[in-house]
Amino acid sequence: MGGTRERSRDGWGRSIETGRHVSRGTVAGVVPEVRTERLRLRRWRPEDREPFAQLNADPRVVEYLPGALSRAESDALVARIEAGWYEYGYGLWAVEVPGVAPFVGFVGLSTANFDARFTPAVEVGWRLAAPAWGSGYATEAGRAALAYGFDDVGLNEIVSFTAQGNTRSRRLMERLGMRRDPADDFDHPRVAEGSHLRRHVLYRLDRDAWSTGTG
Ligand SMILES: CC(C)(COP(=O)(O)OP(=O)(O)OC[C@H]1O[C@@H](n2cnc3c(N)ncnc32)[C@H](O)[C@@H]1OP(=O)(O)O)[C@@H](O)C(=O)NCCC(=O)NCCS
Repeated sequence: MGGTRERSRDGWGRSIETGRHVSRGTVAGVVPEVRTERLRLRRWRPEDREPFAQLNADPRVVEYLPGALSRAESDALVARIEAGWYEYGYGLWAVEVPGVAPFVGFVGLSTANFDARFTPAVEVGWRLAAPAWGSGYATEAGRAALAYGFDDVGLNEIVSFTAQGNTRSRRLMERLGMRRDPADDFDHPRVAEGSHLRRHVLYRLDRDAWSTGTG
């Protein structure tokens, strides 16, 4: 943690400031590579599809998601993620743990544009293979994603939301300094009525709280 502050260039040739816990490099294409102490957040590779399909079929991983994905559905999700980078200039990175695992899942930013009081909004999100849980990888990658969103994309607020019972994800939001107001709880319009996963909690972090570390 606590890298030196320096000027650098991102994947689009813009001058950006690095520091805090990350240093950034440049890769071909639109997905900027981000390095953290233990992780490499990078563009997706064809060989990520197989382990991604495995985690999307794992009942532990999808416990609080709408359901397991088939291989075709998982591949289609990768295609949407890659397209999102082109459309928005931010997105979900493939997460690698160099020297440990070439692919453990995704962490990053996405756009929430379904109909709710707080949308449209930019969400920080994550999905890791179960063997990679319990090591702080999502926290480390989540911090880097927030830094990217506030410092490089210039967002004023980043949200995160999950089914009420997803305590692992909620603890992660809290570790990242995100805060929940119970008045913001909502029924996710894309989850079936009557499902125990429909009720969601919303966590928020704004740029001021992020930059002063008071979130
Ligand atoms: C949500 C999810 C990413 C959280 O994973 P996680 O491993 O609990 O989160 P982290 O990677 O931040 O690790 C934190 C855990 O590692 C431990 N840890 C070990 N070393 C650590 C370190 N260096 N730094 C921080 N935490 C560390 C922490 O104590 C914590 O364990 P605890 O919750 O038992 O106290 C994971 O459960 C997941 O992918 N779930 C399925 C997909 C999902 O539900 N996504 C959200 C949908 S909205």
